[in-house]
Amino acid sequence: MSPGRRLRLAVLASGRGSNLQALLDAGKERSYPAEVALVLSDKVDAATLRRAREAGVAAEWIDPGPPGLFGRIGERIEKAGADLVCCAGFMRILPPEFVRRFAGRILNIHPSLLPSFPGLHAQRKAVRAGVRIAGCTVHFIDEGVDTGPVLLQAAVPVLAGDDEESLSERILLYEHQIYPLAVRLIAEGRVRLEGRRVHIEGAGGEGAGFISPPLGGVPAHGKTS
Ligand code: GRF
Repeated sequence: MSPGRRLRLAVLASGRGSNLQALLDAGKERSYPAEVALVLSDKVDAATLRRAREAGVAAEWIDPGPPGLFGRIGERIEKAGADLVCCAGFMRILPPEFVRRFAGRILNIHPSLLPSFPGLHAQRKAVRAGVRIAGCTVHFIDEGVDTGPVLLQAAVPVLAGDDEESLSERILLYEHQIYPLAVRLIAEGRVRLEGRRVHIEGAGGEGAGFISPPLGGVPAHGKTS
């Protein structure tokens, strides 16, 4: 990447779009080394499309009806000149050929400390399992579901009285921190993928991959715009 050029992101998102918003907000800072170039959604009325348009970013609904959905998505991403694909609440399993097309350049955020609780309703599964520490993970996507190499994780305590909703809200606060941070680390050229291990170079080193909120310093509720 030429010096001064910002990493171009394509975001795939189906729903509320709060993680997309965190990436859009990060990109508003001139010093942030990445910007959202394109948002694609498989849901015509997704809040993600509205958020992108309000931010002046190209946003398109990709009709999931006709065959070849992922071929069309891949073409749009390439045409937009995106360097990195960020899935943010994209509710479809990516086919292997799509994953291979963007190998090493496609990320996902998941609301658990993977490999615990992959798949849907991760926060509900964490509450039901009675774990003391939940969290969220940014990982590279491989051909499995939520199985790719882990880039960043944040540990989030489960408090007495938590239900799925309250835990989800708390985790989301950290999702909004680690996704922009993960993109920053990649944009700064500090991330090296070696098999299943992700190495983070430079300030903070491997320690940069783990965020642990101080005890007592965690808001039980917070703004989850
Ligand atoms: C987040 O919890 C994310 O971890 C999961 O889906 C949810 C998307 O939320 N993959 P939002 O659409 O970004 O608000």
